[in-house]
Amino acid sequence: MKLSTVRMESENVKIIKTKNNEELSNKAAELFVQALQRKKQPVIGLATGSTPERMYELLIEQYRAGKISFEQAISFNLDEYVGLSVEHPTSYHYYMEEKLFHAIDIKKENTHIPNGLAEDLEKECEAYEQKISRAGHLDFLVLGIGVNGHIGFNEPGTSFDSRTHVVTLTESTREVNSRFFEKLADVPKEAITMGLSTIMEAKEIMLLVQGDKKADILNKVIHGEVTEDIPASILQRHPNTTVITDIEI
Ligand code: GLP
Repeated sequence: MKLSTVRMESENVKIIKTKNNEELSNKAAELFVQALQRKKQPVIGLATGSTPERMYELLIEQYRAGKISFEQAISFNLDEYVGLSVEHPTSYHYYMEEKLFHAIDIKKENTHIPNGLAEDLEKECEAYEQKISRAGHLDFLVLGIGVNGHIGFNEPGTSFDSRTHVVTLTESTREVNSRFFEKLADVPKEAITMGLSTIMEAKEIMLLVQGDKKADILNKVIHGEVTEDIPASILQRHPNTTVITDIEI
């Protein structure tokens, strides 16, 4: 495993290159555990998608082995689809329950995921933002990335000043994510996501990027211009971001 530091804009983004998804997930779990144990009541931001799945399995293994506990942790998920119920198998509520929460000792009341069924979505976004702020902001945030450079569901063109908000998903994101649904028409058209400003307030960020199909976007995010056209490029301005990837860049 090679650790290199690339100078970007005025800050450094650390890059950890790994051989494959297993090594990536192990390294990610290691950083996660360090963050979990650094504070008495850590506030952790969580991502969904295929990329963090193995990391969650490894965390469950460590919990079962008695090595870690989530009893004091507070979690905030990045995003949720609008219109899917908690029991819907492709909702992010369902994902988190199935991939992590059911198997660990985190307190239900300390887990937060935007409610995509809220009657007043704007209010829901404001309330979510306030909860994050009241918790003292995120100490550690796990991020994945979309092939178009989105983080959370902040699609290209999202303002760097954005806070938790409702987004209209791009057709390309709906197509990419349709693999989890029966058909494209079932993929919601909207979602709630933490904004880019909300994300940037996290004290530490870990971006996981897996698979060659993301090589092009990762290269732009790391070596390209910081632009709202590539939402993840804002991470070049974050003082404590680590990218863990199995891509040669
Ligand atoms: C989704 C999620 C993102 C996630 C991204 C990558 O659209 N909203 O939070 O990071 O896709 O997912 P995957 O890891 O499956 O490639």
